[in-house]
Amino acid sequence: MIQTHASVHSVEEIASDIFRLAFRSREISAAALPGQFVNIKVNDSLFPLLRRPFSIFFVEGEIVSIIFNIIGEGTRILVGKKPGDVIDVIGPLGNGFSAGMDSDNYKTALIVAGGLGIAPFPFFLSKLGKDKNVLFFVGARTSKQIVRHGIDHIHAATDDGSEGFAGNVVDLLTEHLSDHHYERPRIFCCGPTRMLRRLSEFAQQKRIECYASLECAMACGVGLCQGCPVETISGKKKYALVCKEGPVFETSTVFV
Ligand SMILES: Cc1cc2nc3c(=O)[nH]c(=O)nc-3n(C[C@H](O)[C@H](O)[C@H](O)COP(=O)(O)OP(=O)(O)OC[C@H]3O[C@@H](n4cnc5c(N)ncnc54)[C@H](O)[C@@H]3O)c2cc1C
Ligand code: FES
Repeated sequence: MIQTHASVHSVEEIASDIFRLAFRSREISAAALPGQFVNIKVNDSLFPLLRRPFSIFFVEGEIVSIIFNIIGEGTRILVGKKPGDVIDVIGPLGNGFSAGMDSDNYKTALIVAGGLGIAPFPFFLSKLGKDKNVLFFVGARTSKQIVRHGIDHIHAATDDGSEGFAGNVVDLLTEHLSDHHYERPRIFCCGPTRMLRRLSEFAQQKRIECYASLECAMACGVGLCQGCPVETISGKKKYALVCKEGPVFETSTVFV
């Protein structure tokens, strides 16, 4: 784990109300794995006190980027950053997708992202073995909120029907897989918990392995405060810490 004072490289709106903040860090960019996150202290005053966690969206040379929409004070401060401003960043944190993605036991990666759940996947795609087939399913409220960075072709689902399938991304995936067969599939997903639970059920019915990046409120981000437990179904322990043992879990270990 690295703690650094990183210089902001850029902040730009990359889709409607969705911003990308890029910062320069040789150490974090060199160590980062897909699905890991960074924990950012957005300013050096007492408020907001806690760091804010964000998935690593992309790594290009020494530049690491995150994406976010404005939720509360932390993200409001981040969107106002200017090139050259300094932010205090800890990372890369968590396990990432490596256990699921770097395996010969599957051939087709079915990536399913809901809303800002797209965040870990451009970096994931840049590191995925060239021998894998990839299908990318993205759900968003509206076409203007679909983040397309680094993704050639998407199967879109929008709540308002402005692009692709009118409805949610789990229904889109279900419908798509009822008509198409893919060799040795595996699901990788990130998004709202309700979506992840439905995907987990679907994956268990179809006997497809499914890896999800979970979100929950966090404080330290490094396994010290015990503030991010998730109940586990199998294994010796009743709880796992999302920040340290996650955020990526094989879904049958955390969802019934
Ligand atoms: C591992 C991990 C990766 C994440 N990656 C991203 C990302 O790539 N992009 C992104 O936009 N967000 C991501 N998040 C969520 C992000 O951390 C929060 O949106 C951010 O902390 C909000 O900060 P804020 O100060 O703007 O809002 P706050 O003032 O902290 O929160 C505003 C409201 O949102 C609620 N809230 C805050 N964080 C969460 C959360 N994690 N889950 C549910 N409700 C919450 C609060 O309870 C509050 O009601 C991630 C979270 C985790 C745990
Ligand atoms: S956020 Fe502190 S232990 Fe996970």
